[in-house]
Amino acid sequence: MARISYVNGQYLPHHEAAVHVEDRGYQFADGIYEYIAFYNHTLLDGDAHLKRLERSLGELRIPMPVSIRAMHVIIRQLIARNSRIDGGLYIQVTRGVARRDHPFPRNTKPALVMTVCAAKTPKEHEVKDGVKVITAPDIRWGRCDIKSISLLANVLAKQAAGEKHTREAWLVGDDRTVTEGAVSNAYIISKEGELVTHPLDEHVLGGITRDVVLRLARKAGITVAERSFNTVEVKNAREAFITSTSANVLPVIKVDDKLIGNGKPGPITRQLQELYRTYVFKQTGRML
Ligand SMILES: Cc1ncc(COP(=O)(O)O)c(C=O)c1O
Repeated sequence: MARISYVNGQYLPHHEAAVHVEDRGYQFADGIYEYIAFYNHTLLDGDAHLKRLERSLGELRIPMPVSIRAMHVIIRQLIARNSRIDGGLYIQVTRGVARRDHPFPRNTKPALVMTVCAAKTPKEHEVKDGVKVITAPDIRWGRCDIKSISLLANVLAKQAAGEKHTREAWLVGDDRTVTEGAVSNAYIISKEGELVTHPLDEHVLGGITRDVVLRLARKAGITVAERSFNTVEVKNAREAFITSTSANVLPVIKVDDKLIGNGKPGPITRQLQELYRTYVFKQTGRML
């Protein structure tokens, strides 16, 4: 299957898709990205992802390269040209190409790149049996609410997780607060039975899956507390899980050396997995 990518107005064979060496994304990580899943040619929560893209760009004062409507047209074209029914779409916008200098360049057009890949879905055993995570110091910058392409701290944390044969790294602040995962949001079911996740502020990315799962949880009568939790609470938690566009809802059964609950996915996590599966099915017709 020919892989086609979109670069600044052109649909190109993937191996020919390239940006200039002085693109500010390459020079300064001066840009934003999004990852959107699609099933049956239908974007999952496409509008929410594009809204987040627009917000993140606004925070960096990078103009939208094209309107959201035009973006939808490009996305539809790109998915069709890649002949993929299910998959993942990366959108990347940078401040554009300019002679290297830190301040914003004048009269530079933002650069827009889109690529399509195979759907990133968790393995069957991860969904069924849960995953292990490690903790790692949260060394990221102070605006984690912006979906920046500057991901070095996340890269290092994910690498550390992989070296320990675990799925994810939970990032921990100086006060032992768990903010989120390197590539996902983090949750526990506390001793008291409430679903706890870090509030939306500059320490975490406002996950699109997070939004959906919290809505589903509240509708199902689960008590949700958007407040910070620390590594001590994690050790005493009944259940734990992560969410993201590529993980969906994944049970966490071990954090560092500590089993969560009885070391098996818990009932609330299971319920949320099912609710999310139904949610995706209703929107896209695909049963994950
Ligand atoms: C740091 C971080 N937090 C949370 C998420 C989950 O976001 P979403 O549910 O929108 O995929 C991601 C996904 O890439 C992420 O990188």
